[in-house]
Amino acid sequence: MNILHSVAQMRDWRAQNDNTALVPTMGNLHAGHIALVELARQHARQVAVSIFVNPLQFGANEDFAQYPRTLEQDAALLADIDDGIIFAPGIADLFPIPQRYHIEPPPLANELCGRFRPGHFRGVATIVMKLFNLVQPTIAVFGKKDYQQLTILRDMVQDFTVPVTLVAGETIRAADGLALSSRNRYLDAAERQAAPLLYNILMDIKTRVVNGERNYAQLEQNALAKLTEHGWRIDYVSLRNQDLTAPTEDSTQLVVLAAAHLGRTRLIDNLEISV
Ligand code: PAF
Repeated sequence: MNILHSVAQMRDWRAQNDNTALVPTMGNLHAGHIALVELARQHARQVAVSIFVNPLQFGANEDFAQYPRTLEQDAALLADIDDGIIFAPGIADLFPIPQRYHIEPPPLANELCGRFRPGHFRGVATIVMKLFNLVQPTIAVFGKKDYQQLTILRDMVQDFTVPVTLVAGETIRAADGLALSSRNRYLDAAERQAAPLLYNILMDIKTRVVNGERNYAQLEQNALAKLTEHGWRIDYVSLRNQDLTAPTEDSTQLVVLAAAHLGRTRLIDNLEISV
């Protein structure tokens, strides 16, 4: 895949490629991203993989500076994909002047991850809208691993009648269940061994709900206690409907979501539950 850096290059390419699937990423690609690219290829003639560590979505005390930037390695991973380009702008390409207008998402953006990362989804929505305007894709692919992000972006596309169809890719996991994430590289060896506990706890909740348990608050409490006991610092464990509204006893399409810190690494994960 060729690498384009400037907005002008991107516009020129887009002018000749009107059936494009966009896969927005922040780079440091892994098998989860490659699965999204493969999914994108099934939906359009050309794929554009954007690689941009977006400063707007990081809080002041977050890992913007240390977020892994591995463009050469990323390009090598995508080398076999013929029909497409990598769009890897620099900060000055996308922000020649500081961003003045922002997408203000609805209150959902202040719940779950948003409660602990104020402004995060505003930054995500703003950059994604900017990428949509630049690339003008027919479809865009996002991973279910970032479930709240996917929900907020779906709502944004609907509210702004953006002419793009969002396609959701399943979470790709390591053999022991850990969801693949660029941030897994922050885990040391002992933490990496301990990390699948988050997935195991979500699986346990899923099994219990499928078997008829409906005391969601109790299930969340039990999960918090177990993670705390194993030294995790928890942001939240939450059972929701799949549109992220609060569930009732009669809900049939649920999702359990969690975010927790293991050492200095913040991990998120979720599992959909159909009953
Ligand atoms: O999911 C991500 O990697 C980022 O939030 C995204 C969608 C590329 C926006 O920067």
